[in-house]
Amino acid sequence: MTIVIAIDGPSGSGKSTVARGVAAALALPVLDTGAMYRAVTLAALEAQVPLDDAEACAAIAERVVVTLEEGVTLLDGRDVRAEIRGPVVTGAVSIVAAHPPVRAILVARQRAWVARHGGGVVEGRDIGTVVFPDATVKVYLVAADEVRARRRQRDELAAARDVAVDEVKAALDRRDAIDSGRTVSPLRAAEDAIVIDTTHLDVDTVVADVVARARAAEASR
Ligand code: DC
Repeated sequence: MTIVIAIDGPSGSGKSTVARGVAAALALPVLDTGAMYRAVTLAALEAQVPLDDAEACAAIAERVVVTLEEGVTLLDGRDVRAEIRGPVVTGAVSIVAAHPPVRAILVARQRAWVARHGGGVVEGRDIGTVVFPDATVKVYLVAADEVRARRRQRDELAAARDVAVDEVKAALDRRDAIDSGRTVSPLRAAEDAIVIDTTHLDVDTVVADVVARARAAEASR
């Protein structure tokens, strides 16, 4: 049986950190689906297609080869891991990710990736609702806005980008509004997802909780 752990939630809720911890504990690979949307956005920006043109963005998504292995994202063979986290891509990705034809292409690739790897920990926005509705365990992480903004600011500082927390928070709010308000696959918890508020929890506690649930789910099927 294939184990798929779906981890969804807004930016800064702790998805990537928790996904990595759970994957290490269960010896599973991690798929960061946000990196796929980011890589396609970078390709669309470079090709100078209008970002609000769904078909043009989908044509880019169709054409590019995005490879995700062990935390490295390659766009047509080029390492874009730093570039896709930069402000330009971050500011544009929600627009590209809202296009249904772009999502259709990337969702198919996400399913193929997991099939090829024989399972995995998959993080994103619609993993439990759309991509893997039959996932072994579905987790939806949330955290207080202030904490999410501080976490993202820490990421920015680590990448040598000095931004004020208010600025980070405004950008998060903008992105959340687009991700939650879009008509196709909006950000929301699946009905059978476990909702975990990470505001006051340390990573190890959350990881241990998810790992225990995954083991229990496996044992019972
Ligand atoms: O997780 P992230 O910040 O790297 O995601 C980047 C953007 O991609 C975010 O604005 C939402 C979008 N996204 C999505 O729509 N569906 C996913 N499964 C993953 C990310």
